[in-house]
Amino acid sequence: MPIEWSGLAPELLLALDRRSDDPLHSQLEGRLREAIRSGRLRTGERLPSSRELARELGLSRGLVQDCYAQLQAEGYLESRVGSATRVAAGAGVPAAAPAPTVTGRPARPVLKVDFRSGVPDLASFPRGDWVWALREACRSAPNAAFDYGDPSGSPVLREVLAAYMRRVRAAAADPDLMVICTGFAQGLNLVLRALARNGVRQVAFEDPGYADTAPATAALTGVEAIRVPVDECGIDVSALARSPARAVVLTPAHQWPTGVVLAPQRRLELVAWAASRDATIIEDDYDAEFRYDREPVGALQGLAADRVAALGTVSKSLAPSVRLGWILCPPSLAAAITEEKALSDRGSPGIDQLALARLLESGRYDRHLRHMRATYAGRRTALVEALARHAPEVKVTGLAAGFHAVAHLPEPVSEQAAVAGARARSVGLYGMSAYRSTGAVTPAQLVLGFGDLGERAIQSGIAAVGDLLRPPGAAQSGRASAGSGRPAGKSR
Ligand SMILES: Cc1ncc(COP(=O)(O)O)c(C=O)c1O
Repeated sequence: MPIEWSGLAPELLLALDRRSDDPLHSQLEGRLREAIRSGRLRTGERLPSSRELARELGLSRGLVQDCYAQLQAEGYLESRVGSATRVAAGAGVPAAAPAPTVTGRPARPVLKVDFRSGVPDLASFPRGDWVWALREACRSAPNAAFDYGDPSGSPVLREVLAAYMRRVRAAAADPDLMVICTGFAQGLNLVLRALARNGVRQVAFEDPGYADTAPATAALTGVEAIRVPVDECGIDVSALARSPARAVVLTPAHQWPTGVVLAPQRRLELVAWAASRDATIIEDDYDAEFRYDREPVGALQGLAADRVAALGTVSKSLAPSVRLGWILCPPSLAAAITEEKALSDRGSPGIDQLALARLLESGRYDRHLRHMRATYAGRRTALVEALARHAPEVKVTGLAAGFHAVAHLPEPVSEQAAVAGARARSVGLYGMSAYRSTGAVTPAQLVLGFGDLGERAIQSGIAAVGDLLRPPGAAQSGRASAGSGRPAGKSR
């Protein structure tokens, strides 16, 4: 006889068979016991109220209450007055342990001061403004905004962002040629895929440059990554011209990670190279909002909109977890990039896009950036002063923009020894060698991120490792306070 599943509890994925000889209360108890023993329901997880479960299964509430009471008596469930019935501690499988990182990256060690780069001040994320913008977006969005949208992104955000990019980055921004994406990471992926479709096989990357993700993205999208050296004027365009590359990915406003700014002459040479090769320039404009002493440098895209795909992101201006970015596409690639976006995920989250548009339109985004510019400028000064005090032989460069700098270690200080010695004192330092294609450890340099470190932490971190950065026998500057060693407590 076929089983007659009647009474389904979708919240628990549980069904009872009314034709079975087994009484309903014993079926219910058995199924709950089994769910707990098998780990489908884990310690601490909430069960539906007896009223909800009774309704869903078409049972009397009393029967469900009896089952819950029986399982409580057996130690499977527990309930406290005024709170839900839950799987008891010690019953079945313990609560899920934190999931292992899916990226396979080792967990970050606990450091008292960590000079890792790439992270803005997370504590300064404008939570209030973001909540306001989300609420406004949700409240005022038409019903259609909750549908699948245009895969290239919300027209409202594209319009607002294009105006912002024209105003702040002197970009030739056309909302119809803009694709909203999930940060630089996805933007690069989409552009490389679009280029690969058009027959591009080799793409140049700066050296030093992205350590792993961008070349790995190239491999994934089926193009070969060629490394082209960077000197104090930015990417070596002559070396690029000698390579077979038909596209180049670069960070002209603040080279990642050396911090140099692409010299005006090189900008022109690069654009000429792209025109002569029918090549594409992929501009990673990741931290250009934060410029300090010098005149702001406009986006390269403004010079050659038909050759440049400019990638922007809010990962530095707001926070990486927002996962919103944009591509200003050259007209010849716009359709292919949009198609790749549609294939990849059908479009970025619509309400978040509207919220970002609100933030920009309202002036709150600019206000946040003004505040952060002053904050990072203070941290940058703190870093320079701390190094001058505790390791005066160290030269610091790359400070024109953003929130990382390069410390050039004096001979014979070794990068690895400095990094390892600092790690033993719970200070995270990072060597330039990780960003060089050859892995060369000379010249010995450190890439120091100061975005997510307060001034006090910067000072105590550098004080703690100053002796590791000085040549043997060299004394710290006269202004220095005595003592190095572990930084006191975790500080910001
Ligand atoms: C050089 C560079 N570009 C761009 C980004 C931003 O990437 P995304 O927008 O995917 O967060 C980062 C992040 O650290 C970066 O280091």
